[in-house]
Amino acid sequence: MNFQLSEEHEMIREAARGFAQQELLPGVIERDTHEKFPTEQVKMMGELGFMGMMVQPEYGGGGMDTISYSIAMEEISKIDASASVVMSVNNSLVCWGLEKFGTEEQKQKYLKPLAMGEIIGGFCLSEPEAGSDATSQRTTAIDKGDHYLLNGTKNWITNGNSASVFLVMAQTDVEKKHRGINCLIVEKGMEGFVVGKKEEKLGIRGSDTHSLMFTDVKVPKENRIGEEGFGFKFAMKVLSGGRIGIASQALGIAQGAYELALKYSKERETFGKPICEHQAIAFKLADMATQIEAARHLVHKAAWLKDQGLPFDKEGAMAKVFASETAMWVTTEAVQIHGGYGYVKEYHVERLMRDAKITQIYEGTSEIQRIVISRSVLAE
Ligand code: CAA
Repeated sequence: MNFQLSEEHEMIREAARGFAQQELLPGVIERDTHEKFPTEQVKMMGELGFMGMMVQPEYGGGGMDTISYSIAMEEISKIDASASVVMSVNNSLVCWGLEKFGTEEQKQKYLKPLAMGEIIGGFCLSEPEAGSDATSQRTTAIDKGDHYLLNGTKNWITNGNSASVFLVMAQTDVEKKHRGINCLIVEKGMEGFVVGKKEEKLGIRGSDTHSLMFTDVKVPKENRIGEEGFGFKFAMKVLSGGRIGIASQALGIAQGAYELALKYSKERETFGKPICEHQAIAFKLADMATQIEAARHLVHKAAWLKDQGLPFDKEGAMAKVFASETAMWVTTEAVQIHGGYGYVKEYHVERLMRDAKITQIYEGTSEIQRIVISRSVLAE
């Protein structure tokens, strides 16, 4: 057993940290306040190889392991979780799904530009009435021979306006329930595809979350991923890996808030000494550091299992539920340590606290993770 990261992993951490400090930090409060998508920054992330980290080089990616991806996600999320969610969806849901299950033609046409960051991808499973209960898809993809006719509405789609390519789950055969669901690759320009309203959110306000509407959109048969009826399994498999990405995001948010609180506690004095020398604060910092370290171990273990080709669904869910609850708790304590300063934008921790909340909700709520974990432990 070796708990040490490789030299390459440390280099990736340095590169991601440098990028986040130089390019993301300067405008992060403004983007959050005005709900401004980090267009320029995401473009740079593509150029630096952060948008297709795990994709093989022949398809335009970095050919890196999941631990590298997790490290980069952590560093970027420490500063800007709005930018890291764009990265997470593109890497672990869209690129990974296409590389693992797409045809050679689909990889050439869609995966390459996605992995190189020339275009952004979106993942469309959630609907107004199918969030956690993902088998209840109302969007339909009727088989018309050489194409599917796509109709329906998807909700809370990350990269909803900025993405050019979407993986859309839709019901083809209602009788077959979840085994009648397909995943179709849908391009933004296709006739009948409309980007709906932008959601005004509590956190990750720099990312663009939209509803999407499909009315008689003709999607060629060659845009289906996998065999007929593979769509639900595809979504579940992709989300299992995605949960490691979101767990890494939560870890980064927690680490970012902790570092700010630690620094502040050494500078701020009350009753004649820095507040970190009061046990009330020192013990908070000790607990924060411990929780974060435990979360990091769970996240890296899940990433490692995935890289070894071993089952990781349970561990990915454990990593996500623990890291996201850690992020919520640590960010709240970071605000508390900052006192009144923590409640204003300038000190960053209030944004991190707002951003932390979504990690307990998307890519499966904490309750969904507990379903996945409990089913697994009960079957052991
Ligand atoms: N891998 C492969 N197959 C899987 C699987 C997995 N991890 N999990 C389930 N399946 C398969 C099952 O084997 C079963 O297939 P068969 O019937 O053919 O054997 C099928 O899927 C249905 O499984 P269940 O009976 O377990 O389904 P369920 O209705 O009880 O639900 C669930 C399972 C885990 C609760 C699932 O519905 C779920 O994960 N829900 C949450 C959905 C989610 O995460 N949404 C997030 C949206 S995307 C997002 O948030 C992106 C973003 O913006 C950042």
